[in-house]
Parts: sequence; structure tokens; C-alpha cells
Amino acid sequence: MQAITSRLDNNSEEFVANAAAYRELIDTLNDRMEWAIGGGKGRGRSIERHLGRGKVMVRDRIAAVTDHNTPFLELSTLSGFGQYDDAAPGAGIVTGIGMVHGVPYVFIANDATVKGGSLLPVSIKKHVRAQEIADENDLGVIYLVDSGGAFLPLQDEIFPDKDHFGGSFYRQARLSARGLPQLSVVLGGCTAGGAYVPALSDEVIMVEGISQIFLGGPPIVKAALGEIVPADELGGAELHTRTSGVSDYRSQTETQAYAKLREICETTSQRALTDRAGWLDYKEPEAPRYPAEDLYGIVSADDRIPFSATEIIARLVDGSRFGEFKPEWGASMVTGFARIWGHQIGIIANNGIIFSESALKATHFIELCEQRRIPLVFLQNTSGYMVGKDAEAGGIAKNGAKMVAAVANATVPRYTILTGGAYGAGNYGMCGRGFQPRFLFAWPNSRIATMAADTAETVLVDIRMGGLKAAETTEEDVAALRAEIRGQYEEQSDPYYATSRLWDDGLIDPVHTRDALGLCLALAARQDEPPPGRPLVYRM
Ligand code: COA
Repeated sequence: MQAITSRLDNNSEEFVANAAAYRELIDTLNDRMEWAIGGGKGRGRSIERHLGRGKVMVRDRIAAVTDHNTPFLELSTLSGFGQYDDAAPGAGIVTGIGMVHGVPYVFIANDATVKGGSLLPVSIKKHVRAQEIADENDLGVIYLVDSGGAFLPLQDEIFPDKDHFGGSFYRQARLSARGLPQLSVVLGGCTAGGAYVPALSDEVIMVEGISQIFLGGPPIVKAALGEIVPADELGGAELHTRTSGVSDYRSQTETQAYAKLREICETTSQRALTDRAGWLDYKEPEAPRYPAEDLYGIVSADDRIPFSATEIIARLVDGSRFGEFKPEWGASMVTGFARIWGHQIGIIANNGIIFSESALKATHFIELCEQRRIPLVFLQNTSGYMVGKDAEAGGIAKNGAKMVAAVANATVPRYTILTGGAYGAGNYGMCGRGFQPRFLFAWPNSRIATMAADTAETVLVDIRMGGLKAAETTEEDVAALRAEIRGQYEEQSDPYYATSRLWDDGLIDPVHTRDALGLCLALAARQDEPPPGRPLVYRM
């Protein structure tokens, strides 16, 4: 397979300006990651108290469980950003994928320095999403539980609905029944919802002095029964390990608990990351020929100026080798075969607006990858499907729908990276969140919305001026409406707005894209081959 020859001029004014602008985006990303790890309103006091109790910070707990010098792919680090009065960094829960004895596990770890580890609406979404990832990728789950259960002031947004607290217990029970180990270490006062996580686990470890499990904590017991019971007597490690049997092991320290957990993991009979089921084609990996840092200079600082999908691919794939499919047809869609960290993939990448030809080309390419059992990677940067008289007459609606249907029905693993705009139905056709790719990561320059702010401003003013309110609308009203719409679209299409609400699995620095995808593909490679789907019915 031929390598891409880059046409990039690293000394051009455009490259230098783009790279400088992108480094500012990366600085902002890094600052906000710091906020998630140790920031947030009033968090300093909580951290001090947590450490003062001899407890370990949540990310250090994960590091103590995972194999030395192995990566931890943290997910949705910036969930909760800009919400809840800046008091819920990371939504008070850390999720991700880490290795124990070479076996990948999903970690779900409460951060007790954020609202006592209680679960806000976004925390529940993050917990459930991590379980979904475990289900789809056949991964066991390690719960590091330190949680006050439901965040009580918002109980209506976390308790009753399908994907609320109940949904997380439902999933946990079903994951266990699938033979995917559910293992808990209890590391704090786990009340009600927080208590059911260990109670539903296959094996449970408690730590003397710091962990308690109770369906109702001392205040509830006092209110309901008038009983005054100290927390440890009501649900401490000794009670639950020696008397109730809710816990299976008792450790004296957190460190001992993690050693015990690693010992348990030796018995779970799960496939290692390198233990491929043999269905995904694999070759010795090759580094790309061009440095990943070039990506900063490739992405246009002005999001109205398009940039080349081929130049991006050259910096992501093994040896920058790319077997382009239909290179001379439907040029606004780049499709072709490549490898990432040795794994064969099919890439579908936007080079701007999606026309009928580009949609048909993508559909055809998805069929090839389905037939050959090759995972699909979508590099999404589009303002959407083409509009206008010619496009409609050319059947863009039915051609776009073919692509959407093919993406929805592909049974091979699908992964999406938002490299730029994710607008309109283009978001869907390019396997946006609604199309349930196995993982979806976004770059910090990306934007998600029905349409760009410029377009929205014009469209909504036109609708207003064409409607009943037109006669009584003054120029000042129009100007105010424009400003309001622009402000709303700019705020809501911001990537931090998206990642805060878990519309992705995390914002990543573009230079980490290859490694993140490499790990995701390795997860798929260790699974059995997914059964092929049924043939589609195309409306031609
Ligand atoms: N809902 C809302 N906020 C909660 C909460 C919950 N379930 N559990 C804890 N918090 C908040 C506290 O209000 C406090 O907020 P602040 O930092 O803004 O003051 C913060 O979390 C820390 O709580 P605190 O009680 O000071 O910490 P702690 O480490 O001494 O105790 C718990 C932690 C979880 C053991 C204790 O807070 C507790 O028992 N919470 C109530 C649990 C409960 O009854 N849950 C029922 C769920 S259905």
C-alpha cells in the first residue's frame, strides 16, 4: 500500500498561524484538565479533608490497581464542566480503561472530594456509559466505590428513568451474568445507591476504618427508627466481612486492598489485550511518516476555511500508508484502507460538504468493510449534506439516507473522531453519538450543532420575518434576535459544552488520537468476530 506524500508546507504563514492558534487551544484544554483533577469551587477544603483522613485521591487509586507503565485511557474527564455552579469537576466520577495483569478493565471510581462522591445527573450518565463500553467491548468492571449515592437535591433527574440509577444496577447485574467480572473495593461511606454497587458485585473488599456500606446511613436510621448508631457499627468493614457477609475480604489499608484486588483479577479468566481472537487482520505496526504535531498547523484556525482530510490521515496511520478507494470520484469524501497500530481499518473522512456522490461513495465503502469485516473509523469534519435546488433534484435526501442507513446497520466496530465541524445530518451520517460508535473522541477545535452560528442567525431571522410576527418586528428586534441566536449557537456548539454533557467520550489532544484509537481497536481484536448483519434494502 502506497504512503501518502504530504503537500504540507510547515513554513507557510498559514501553517505557522494555525499551529500557534492550536497551541492556545491545547493550553486551554490542559488548564481545564487540571480543573477536573484538583479544581472546582470549594474543592480545596474537601481534598484536604480527604487526605487528612489518610485516604488516597481517586486517580492515584486507579494507578495503584493498574499495571505499572501501562496507559490508562480516561474517558470524559471534563464532564460537568461549566455546569452545577463549577462544583462538580469531572462530575465526581472517574471512568476509563486500564490494565490489570495485561487484561483491560473498565474502571468506575467515585471522587469523594466532589460532593461526597454522590451522583449528579451527568455522573449517572458517565457511570452508565462506562458500563455500556464494558458491555460492547467484553470488559470486566472494577468499581472503586466512595459515594454518598444519589445527589439528593436533583433526585428527579437521577432516580426514576431508564438510564438513571436503576439502569446502572440493571446493567451491573447483566454484565455479571455475561461472565464479565464486577469487582468492588469500598473506600468510603457508601449509602443507598452507593451501597448497591458493592452489593451487586461478584467480589467485594472493604477497608478497615474508612469504608462503610449501608442502605440508610446514621442520619436516616435516626430519623426513621430513632436509633443512634455509629457509622462503623452500622456498616463497617468488620460488620460486613464477619457478620453480614456483604463483603468478602477486609483489608487494613487501601494499599492492601489493591493488592488483594490484583490477586482476584488473576482468577477472572479474561482475555489479555494481546490475546487476539484472530478475526481482525493485524501486521507489525509502523509509525506514521509525518509527525503528529503537524496536526496543529493543518487544522484551520478559522473554522470557515476547510482543511485536508488526507493530510490528517497521513499523521494517524501506520507508515502513512493509505489505499484510497474511488480517489477520483466524490472528492468531498475521502475513503480508503489503512492500519492503526497494526490493525486494519477502513477510513471515512470528510473533505467538506457531503454531496450525493460523496454519500454514495461512503455507502459503497461501508458495504466493502462490512463484507471484509474491517472496522470503520470516521473522521468527521462537515457542515452537513448539500442543500439547494440542484442537490435536491439530484436526490441528496435519498442518497444521504442510504449512507445513514448503512452506518446504522454496520456490524463491524465503528469509531468516530470529531476533527472539526459536526453539523446537521452530516453528524449522523458520519457516525455521530446517535449512531452509537464504540468510542467517540473530539478535538478541542470541534463544533457540534444543527448548523453553524452564522447560518442559524440568518435562518432564524428569516423564519421570524416570514411569519406572523414580521409586521411588528423592528430593526432593533432583528439585531437583538441575531445577537441572541449567535450567542446561543456559539455557546452550545462549543466542544466544552458537548463534553460536559457526555456527547463524546472525551476531548483529546489531536496528537493522542492514534494511541487512543490503537487501544480501542486492540479491545475489539481480543473479542470474537461480531456476527454479520442482514443485507440492507436500499432506496435507489
Ligand atoms: N446528595 C447531595 N449531596 C451530598 C450527598 C448526597 N447524597 N452526600 C454528600 N453530599 C455532599 C454534602 O452535602 C457535602 O457538600 P458540600 O461540600 O457542598 O458541603 C459533601 O457532599 C461532602 O459531604 P460530607 O457529609 O461533609 O462528607 P463526609 O465525607 O463526611 O461524608 C458521606 C460522606 C457520603 C458518607 C455523607 O455525606 C453521607 O452520608 N451522605 C448522605 C448519603 C445519603 O443519605 N444518601 C442517600 C442517597 S439515596
